[in-house]
Amino acid sequence: MRRVQVGSDESVQATASDAAAGKLSAASLGYFEDRFLEVLVGAAGAPVPGTAEATTPPVRRLPPIINRGNFARVSCMEKLVLEFIGTSPSHPSSVPHHVRGDGDEHPSHKTDCKESQSSIEEHLARKPQVISLGAGKDSLFFRLMDRGTAASGGYFEVDFPAVSRWKGGLVAKTPILSALANDLYKLVAADLRDITALEDALIIAGVDLAAPTIFLAECVLVYMEPADSGALLQRMGCLLPGLEPYPSLLSQEERFKKSGWDSANAIDMLQVFQELLDPAEVRRASKIEILDEIEEWELIMHHYCLVVAAKGEDTVARLSGNPVLSR
Ligand SMILES: C[S@@+](CC[C@H](N)C(=O)[O-])C[C@H]1O[C@@H](n2cnc3c(N)ncnc32)[C@H](O)[C@@H]1O
Repeated sequence: MRRVQVGSDESVQATASDAAAGKLSAASLGYFEDRFLEVLVGAAGAPVPGTAEATTPPVRRLPPIINRGNFARVSCMEKLVLEFIGTSPSHPSSVPHHVRGDGDEHPSHKTDCKESQSSIEEHLARKPQVISLGAGKDSLFFRLMDRGTAASGGYFEVDFPAVSRWKGGLVAKTPILSALANDLYKLVAADLRDITALEDALIIAGVDLAAPTIFLAECVLVYMEPADSGALLQRMGCLLPGLEPYPSLLSQEERFKKSGWDSANAIDMLQVFQELLDPAEVRRASKIEILDEIEEWELIMHHYCLVVAAKGEDTVARLSGNPVLSR
């Protein structure tokens, strides 16, 4: 993970390229399929002289330990989103999501997280949506669309205006991306530290405040000051705090619960790799490259975690059916 100078928005934005390049290294070796990363990474290169096109630099191959870590990271995010999309709302066995059952028009007006039966039913009747906070150069939307698995309520990618503009321009001029970017795909330009503006931008983009929603914040809030990520968590019911004040899995869970989430489960990424992911996939990925540094691998994977928090009795009950996430 890139160390960034606090307060330097440009350095933080540059982490989007690091993340995509890391994922591309793993994808190029066959850890997972992704035919979109190359263009997302390559387009960040310098323009080819005399053309408007960007260069496609050779794939930067990263060490096995990083590739395997990216496999775990990409696979668990995809798994959770797929489960969420695939199980709600017409399949009401939804996984982690944020429920707005109070009927308020504006998120900041939310006062009570408990839902009546009718508001639960109304909620489940709505289409599920994905809100990816700090989406950067992530390609998950395109991978899902490629397989015909759309979030029928919309897929909203939030990032700094500079990153959103860049991505919008790239999508518009790149056929393999524009062919998949239908009306469900929205790029939302907003600073996650300005929560009022963020909420307004999401509403303008068409977010349905009453629909089942999964928020993703993949390696994002760690780049924010804890006070800013804390405010986001409180106001939006969102996730993942900055690193320092929440050093343990238990403290991560506590933070969500104290912020009004009905359940929160934090597991480290080693557990994700060993217990949450499909064992056959893990066996396949483990054979791609020899990894000798087992101790280092375990140390690194212990250092990162996945937090899954939920609101609403229905969601909490369903999550408790997942033996890994309900311990
Ligand atoms: C390490 S990258 C991760 C990108 C993506 N989630 C992924 O995993 O590929 C962090 C992203 O968060 C975005 N980000 C960080 N702080 C932000 C803020 N205050 N407002 C909007 N975006 C922010 C950065 O611009 C960058 O795209």
